[in-house]
Amino acid sequence: MPFYTESLGLPDSAFALLRDLIRERTGLFYENEKGDLLTDKLAPLVIDRGFTSFLDYYYLLKYDSDSGEDWKRVMDALSVQETYFWREMDQIRALVDVLAPRHFSTFPGKPLRIWSAACASGEEPLSIAMALSERGWFDRAPIEIAATDASARAIEKARQGLYRERSFRALPAGLRDKYFTQEQGGWRIAPELRARIKWSIANLMTEPEVAHLAASNVIFCRNVFIYFSDDSIRKAVSLFFRLMPSPGYLFVAASESLLRLTTGFEFEEIGGAFVYVKRQQAGEPHSAAKAEWPMADRQQ
Ligand SMILES: C[S@@+](CC[C@H](N)C(=O)[O-])C[C@H]1O[C@@H](n2cnc3c(N)ncnc32)[C@H](O)[C@@H]1O
Repeated sequence: MPFYTESLGLPDSAFALLRDLIRERTGLFYENEKGDLLTDKLAPLVIDRGFTSFLDYYYLLKYDSDSGEDWKRVMDALSVQETYFWREMDQIRALVDVLAPRHFSTFPGKPLRIWSAACASGEEPLSIAMALSERGWFDRAPIEIAATDASARAIEKARQGLYRERSFRALPAGLRDKYFTQEQGGWRIAPELRARIKWSIANLMTEPEVAHLAASNVIFCRNVFIYFSDDSIRKAVSLFFRLMPSPGYLFVAASESLLRLTTGFEFEEIGGAFVYVKRQQAGEPHSAAKAEWPMADRQQ
């Protein structure tokens, strides 16, 4: 534990207050054994703010109506942005080869809306866009991709579109050469592919920020629930279920089974990948998408 964390002092009762507040606002859950990890990440923010105790910082986050910028810093500090291109591709292949053809034959001319809900620096939605492009989908059907993350720093990186070697550990070299240009500091994504994606900041725990996106036909919410409490997962998943059209398809990572939670989704294998499916509910009309996405925020 760095010395400054100790000097700030955090009695168990105050730790629980801070931890529960963080969980409520971000979904991220630190069990007691991981308390040091949480305090180590937050200690520099407490000190930068000029406080001498975590409890004062807790009061700021909890009660100060001007704490928006502080919450932004908390999200950046706690965000784990480990990701890479072509990760868990069986699910993306199922989207491209099975769900997209199914969507356009059931709802000809209706846009297929895809949301990458915790996209970190963008490798996941860009992999989806590359895979769709490889199959020629953008030339023959309307497809909209939204990508969001709660960390402003992550979305800033995604908008920059400059990636280092570690992001390419699974991407076939031919695709890297086709969609990226090497420059000082890394590889830059082709601007036209990046522009296919609407990037924005959105917190899965804040319904007004994500409700319109949850009306997507397909949601990728991968490798974020591993950091969430069960209650936070339930909250996010039930929001998806309520607002997705039917059929609606939810992909989580292989390590993040939702089967222990009661959700309305049916667990199915589609095209060799596992997916949670929202089937048509009794009395509900078949729907392509429930709401329009706002078109703001498309970055060139
Ligand atoms: C490990 S990355 C996952 C990236 C990508 N989905 C993948 O599977 O490779 C986890 C991301 O979840 C984001 N995150 C954490 N809490 C979040 C929340 N409440 N709402 C939205 N994103 C969140 C983090 O900022 C981080 O970028």
